[in-house]
Amino acid sequence: MFIDTHCHLSIEDYDDIDKVIKENRSAGISKIIISGCTKETIKESVDLSNKYDDVFVTIGYHPSEASKTSLEDLKYLENFLSSDKVVGIGEIGLDYHYGKEDKKLQISLFEAQLKIAEKYKMPIVIHSRDATEDTINILKKYSLIGDIHCFSGSVETAKVYVKMGYYLGIGGVVTFKNSNLYKVVEEIGIEHILLETDSPYLAPVPLRGSKNSSKNIPIIAEKISEILNIGINKVSEVTSYNASKLFDLNNN
Ligand code: NI
Repeated sequence: MFIDTHCHLSIEDYDDIDKVIKENRSAGISKIIISGCTKETIKESVDLSNKYDDVFVTIGYHPSEASKTSLEDLKYLENFLSSDKVVGIGEIGLDYHYGKEDKKLQISLFEAQLKIAEKYKMPIVIHSRDATEDTINILKKYSLIGDIHCFSGSVETAKVYVKMGYYLGIGGVVTFKNSNLYKVVEEIGIEHILLETDSPYLAPVPLRGSKNSSKNIPIIAEKISEILNIGINKVSEVTSYNASKLFDLNNN
């Protein structure tokens, strides 16, 4: 059984969510953690997690929301944290690929949410794009644990995060021909890896370009098992253990 530690599930992307959940179950996906990372999807995601036993949720404002997120919106976020199915804060972080012009706002939103994570003792899910140095320097100021979602950096960067106690979220990109992520997987090993799809985005090869879904997790696991030369059952066992430990899923 597999756990998809990071995906998005919204009626905006999927007409029939019941069907998606059923397909996940038949593909051996025991749990999924969906991310509500805008004001609109926070409530929608929490509602979905309350509807389905195997759906958990992390919530937090994505860096792309930096210019429109107010203090009241942070209060709004905090209101949902007492729900049993909310297992972390995220995805939060920095995106200098799309948002160079509002760096300062992104950093203050990021830090405000790291403080919330500290206050509620919750793990975090990090989005960092073209912002490795700032992300690492900011995370060093807090004693938090979490997931570097959709990790795409170098082996050196991977080692820094692992040393800080973070897990690396590995998804469909590992199956892309031009990706160097296999080097990271080889070097870091299964003990620090979480499986994720980031669906509806980043479908793995051979489905690249189509709408992704958690049911594709076994394709990613298969690729990792090839890279590490271990059985797919081992990949499933260790990554599920990592996810359950980080997000405390067994108590839910
Ligand atoms: Ni995402």
